Amino acid sequence: MAYLKPDKPEKVYVPALRAAKEKNEKLVCLTAYDYPTARIVDEAGVDIILVGDSMGNVIHGYGNTIPVSLEEILSATKAVKRGASRALLVADMPYGSYHTGDNKAVRNALKLMKYGGAEAVKLEGGRNRVDLVKRLVDEEIPVMAHIGLTPQSVHKLGGYRVQGKTTDDAKRLIEDAQMLEDAGAFAIVLELVPREVAAIITEELKISTVGIGAGTNCDIQVLVLHDLIGFTFGRQPRFVRQYANVSGVITDAITRWMDDVRSGNYPAEAESYGLPEDVDAEKLKASMPF
Ligand code: KIV
Repeated sequence: MAYLKPDKPEKVYVPALRAAKEKNEKLVCLTAYDYPTARIVDEAGVDIILVGDSMGNVIHGYGNTIPVSLEEILSATKAVKRGASRALLVADMPYGSYHTGDNKAVRNALKLMKYGGAEAVKLEGGRNRVDLVKRLVDEEIPVMAHIGLTPQSVHKLGGYRVQGKTTDDAKRLIEDAQMLEDAGAFAIVLELVPREVAAIITEELKISTVGIGAGTNCDIQVLVLHDLIGFTFGRQPRFVRQYANVSGVITDAITRWMDDVRSGNYPAEAESYGLPEDVDAEKLKASMPF
């Protein structure tokens, strides 16, 4: 990889994605929703940070992404912006923020850019979003599209399943991808799509594909940080490879601290503060009216 390595700290801008694809360089994208994780992810050298509406599942406990509000994404984007200096910062447009007219969608996307510090927005949908993508791009807002499994459609889809498994569905996905590229999207998330379909889209498009559960051929891989580090609950989808057990580390730290408190081992003298030498504790006590 030429210039996107952590030891080459150039800021990542949208055009870097196209340049990387042309050179066959894989990029990486992770989610972050707050300042400390943004710092860690950015300093580790991740190329793109997504303030994803997966925060609905991961940090708010809503069970899905539907209730996530623009205010929640905006607040998280501001925090992530303060922690990230190199990665391209993409903010998700939550459900309802781009569904009631293009003017409103543009206003909401502008808020994420202007007040949140986002450098691009992501939204879900295929051919039904083509006009909106064109409009956003016209207003200088870079758009990452998202097709395949679109979690904001969970009620319509009836669950989280692999998309594009029949010939007709796969063709439709490939067409959608092409239409979104033509509309001006700079990248497309392919979520839960058969690897062969993702490979065709990646080969056919000039813009980058961002795969999650879509095989190895995508230009960029994205994961939810909390899944990668084992800081989530419940069964994980098969595409998640867990590299750490942060929940276990936290539980262990809390358990040891509780044991120390209960056994009188915490805090030690060095972990507390004493009176200055000129103040006598005995005299102080004697001077009190009890
Ligand atoms: O919200 C999110 O984190 C996402 C990624 C999983 C692509 O949409």
